[in-house]
Amino acid sequence: MRVSKEAAIRLLQGGEVVAIPTETVYGLAAHLSCESAIRKIFQLKGRPFSNPLILHVGYREECAQYASHLPSGFSDLTEAFWPGPLTLILPIKEELVPPIARAGLPTCAFRQPKHPIALEILKKVSPLVAPSANLSGIPSATRVEHVEQDFGSHFPVVDGGACEHGVESTILAQKEGMWQIARLGAITASDLSSVLGYTPELFASVMVTPLCPGQLFTHYSPKAHLILSTREYDKCAHRCPTVLGFTDKKYPGAQKCFFLGAQHDPDSVAYTLYETLRLLDEEKVQRVWVDFSMPTEGIWQTIRERLTRAAGCA
Ligand code: TXA
Ligand code: MG
Repeated sequence: MRVSKEAAIRLLQGGEVVAIPTETVYGLAAHLSCESAIRKIFQLKGRPFSNPLILHVGYREECAQYASHLPSGFSDLTEAFWPGPLTLILPIKEELVPPIARAGLPTCAFRQPKHPIALEILKKVSPLVAPSANLSGIPSATRVEHVEQDFGSHFPVVDGGACEHGVESTILAQKEGMWQIARLGAITASDLSSVLGYTPELFASVMVTPLCPGQLFTHYSPKAHLILSTREYDKCAHRCPTVLGFTDKKYPGAQKCFFLGAQHDPDSVAYTLYETLRLLDEEKVQRVWVDFSMPTEGIWQTIRERLTRAAGCA
């Protein structure tokens, strides 16, 4: 059921779960003070309790209230990227954040979203926990219709149009005084380096010693089996007549093509990525050959990571 932002504020204050738009993907929101609503989020998504949630704040100053201290670089990063698609993991005063929201960890992830509807709601009712508004494991929701596909047309959602970025926020955590990337996202390593003065590394051992068990779960996966390839398309070699590729490339012999956008416009590829992955399932595609010959820098790094995970290769 599509609801106004005023109705969403009332529902959230009354302890309900509501889907709201953000500039990255839609989020399934509940107020931090309402543990039963937070529990309901995990149940609705089918999400393991060991996968912690991001705390969305209306004001940057709220972080100081919950954090046990603000690490060096916090001010520079938030001044440069907040409100916006950057999430920072901070050590917290544990008594202020219920363990259910943070999988019992001594840290919590914080973000101030930029979408005007999310920000307006958060200025009235904050902080809100909000994982992506999709069933666990499948591609995130970047349009109100995706939220309705996953949770039904009666589920309360505020329609904020298509999400500007189409991929989730970049998550940073500190290790030995340096910020590292815990999840690639809408803000690129080079965007970050211009503020930090160094290029943050990818958390080296995400798969060996993950920051939280949630990093190991299946993510972003459609039912369709994705075959990632960096070779020229050859339907005989791959025995796969369906292609996921780019509008500015040719795939001679393909029976059906799905397009991620144009290779010269990576932001448009990120924008349509989850929508296209969802479309594969709507069209009941079982196997698809994916044109994985794409650059490695900037937002391409995030797109590559999402496709790799969607294919079950990471
Ligand atoms: O763009 C986004 O970040 C979206 C929108 C709705 O804000 N939210 C989002 O939430 O992507 P979610 O729950 O789908 O992904 C958040 C990820 C979790 O999977 C978990 O790995 C990580 O953030 N995370 C949260 N708290 C953490 C913590 N304390 N330590 C390490 N990782 C954490
Ligand atoms: Mg998610």
